[in-house]
Amino acid sequence: MNNNKSKTWDNLAKSYVGESCARNRYDMLAKLAESEGYVCMSDMLKIVATNEFNHARMMFSFLDALEPDEIKNINICSGYPFKQKLNSLQENLRLSAEDETNESVKIYPQFATVAREEGFEDIAKFFDNLVNVENCHKMLLTQLYTQLKDGTLYKKQVPTKWKCSGCGHEDTTKAAWKKCPLCQAPQGTVMIKIEDNA
Ligand SMILES: [Fe+2]
Ligand SMILES: [Fe+2]
Repeated sequence: MNNNKSKTWDNLAKSYVGESCARNRYDMLAKLAESEGYVCMSDMLKIVATNEFNHARMMFSFLDALEPDEIKNINICSGYPFKQKLNSLQENLRLSAEDETNESVKIYPQFATVAREEGFEDIAKFFDNLVNVENCHKMLLTQLYTQLKDGTLYKKQVPTKWKCSGCGHEDTTKAAWKKCPLCQAPQGTVMIKIEDNA
């Protein structure tokens, strides 16, 4: 079997496009979060966008290694998430969490199995590792969505240690300050609490 006729080749090509789209969607979402004053959330989303860029970069390099000749063009027929609620931060966080669930529960585990069956163990391992990262993305986005919806991003039931991502000022209170007492940065600059096991 030619490497570029394998199912793994197709799966890498589809994933490459999917991850490239995801990177742009997270960068757009980061801009939206920033425009609404959620500076810290925006920074978190930019990190997720960078993660997706590096996933796409690795997929591209696998495609390059599998194809001995110059690739002129590839035709990819697949479905890709297309969000139409571009102006709703909350709705986009929810939809993005769904996409990440789909990737971590269904798509990439399946691509890992196919790669293993076709003898591409290094690519199978790569998809295994991706499952873990996309699962972390899912947990992060789910928490951002839930906390934004419930109004608990900066307000908790119990005294909580808050930290300004701008100047490093810390305080332990139920609700984070509206304006940082040290650097005057707005509340959106306060670091968001994400639970590891959520
Ligand atoms: Fe990814
Ligand atoms: Fe992701």
